[in-house]
Amino acid sequence: MESFSIIGGKPVQGSIAVRGSKNATLPLLAASLLADGPCEFSNVPLLRDVQTQVKILNTLGVETVWQGRRVRTQVIDSYNNTAPYELVKQMRAGVCVLGPLLAKRGECKVSLPGGCVIGERPIDLHLRGLEALGAEISMEHGYIHAKAPKGGLVGNEIYLGGKFGSSVTATENVMSAAVLARGTTTIECAACEPEVVDVAQFLNAMGARIEGAGSPRITIRGVKRLRGCAWSVIPDRIEAATFVVLAAACRGQLTIKGCRPDHMLAFLDVLRQMQVPVSRSASSLTIDARSLRPAACDVVTLPYPAFPTDCQAQIMALAAIAKGTSVITERIYPERFMAGAEMKRMGADIRVANGQAVVNGVSALQGAEVMASDLRASAALVIAAAAAKGESLISRIYHIDRGYERIDERLAKVGLAIRRCPGAG
Ligand code: EPZ
Repeated sequence: MESFSIIGGKPVQGSIAVRGSKNATLPLLAASLLADGPCEFSNVPLLRDVQTQVKILNTLGVETVWQGRRVRTQVIDSYNNTAPYELVKQMRAGVCVLGPLLAKRGECKVSLPGGCVIGERPIDLHLRGLEALGAEISMEHGYIHAKAPKGGLVGNEIYLGGKFGSSVTATENVMSAAVLARGTTTIECAACEPEVVDVAQFLNAMGARIEGAGSPRITIRGVKRLRGCAWSVIPDRIEAATFVVLAAACRGQLTIKGCRPDHMLAFLDVLRQMQVPVSRSASSLTIDARSLRPAACDVVTLPYPAFPTDCQAQIMALAAIAKGTSVITERIYPERFMAGAEMKRMGADIRVANGQAVVNGVSALQGAEVMASDLRASAALVIAAAAAKGESLISRIYHIDRGYERIDERLAKVGLAIRRCPGAG
C-alpha cells in the first residue's frame, strides 16, 4: 500500500485551486437517474469515491462519458435495479441512489452501506422518509428492498430529525424521491448543508419544484418527469478548509482560489478565534501565517451552518500546536477522533473521552510513522506532518485519495516536501 513521506517545517507558499465538492458530486450523480435525457456535470473532482459512484450508475444502466472534469450521464436501460454490495461497501454514499431509483423505476434493491471508522452509520432516517412517501421497505440478505405503491410515491409531511439532528444524505435521498411523487412533500428538520442546496438547485434545473432548500423546511411539489440538464458542481468547502489549516499549521502564505467563503463562516470564525490572519474575497481565501502561533479555541461540531464535523480532525491538528488548551466536542460522530491517537505519536498532548478531545498545545510536533484511518483523519495527519519537525511517513493513504484529488502533487506545487512512496507490496 502506498504511503506519503512528508518533511515538515517548510511553509507552503503560493496559490492552490479548490476542486468541486465530493459531497455534492455523489448525490448529484445519483439524482441524474431521475432524468429522461442526458445530464452533463462539470467541475467534477477526480476522486476514487466519484469513480465508485459512477460504477454504481453503470451497473444501473447509466452510460457515462468523461471529458476531463466533465462527465455526461444518460440512462440507457433499466434492466438492473440493484446497487451491489461490492460497490456500496466501498462508499456509503452509494445509498444516495435509493431515492431516485425508487421514484423513477418503482422498485429497487440497494446494499446496506457498511459502517466506518468514524462510527455507526445508520440509515433509519432515509428509510423513515421513503416509507412516509408510501414506499414498502424490507431488508433481505443485507439489501434494502424498496417498492413504491402502484400509482407511484405520494407526497407527505415528513419529520426527518434524528438524535443527532438532521441528516445530509437522508435529506438528499428523500428530496430526490419526492420530486416525482404525486402531491406536495414537506421535509421538516431537513439538513441545510450547501451540498443539499446544490442538489435541490440541480433538480429544479431539471424541472422539479423545490422551495426552502438550505433551510430546515423544504417543500417539494411533485412533477411528472424531469429533463436532463448541465450542472457545475459547487466548490469543496472541506477541501478549502483543509488547505487553510495546513497553511496556518506550517506558517505559510497561501491563497485558496475558486472556493466559497460564504459556505465556510463557522469554520472561518474558529480561525479568527485562533488568531489566524485570513483575508477573503467572494471566491478566495488568503492566509499569511508567517509569524503565527495559533491561539487555542474550543470547538463544537454540529449540523450546518455550525462548525462541520468534516473539519474536526484538521482543526485538532492546528490546536495541537496552539498556545493553550482547546476542547473539541464532536456532536455528530462521537468516536471521530482516530487522528488524535496518531498525532500523539508525533508528540501531541491529546486526551479523548466521551466525545470530547482535550488538546494541550505543544510548541512543536515531531515527525513520526503514522497510519491514516479515514478520509479526514488522513488529511489531518498531512497537516500535522507539514507542521512537525523532521520526516513523517503516513501509511494507508488510499483513504485520502478517496476525497482529495492528487493532493501530493498539488501540495508539492506550493512547496510542501511531500512524496508518494510505492507500496511494499
Ligand atoms: C454526510 O454524511 C457527509 N457525506 C459526511 O462526510 C459528513 O461527515 C456528514 O454528512 C455530516 O456532515 C456525504 O455527504 C457523502 P448524516 P451522511 O446522515 O449523510 C446520524 C466525508 O468525510 N444518522 O448527516 O452519512 C448519523 O449517525 C463524509 O466527506 C442517523 O441517525 O451523514 C450521524 O450521527 C464523512 N440516521 C448524523 O445523523 C440516519 O438515517 C449525521 O449523519 C442518518 C444519519
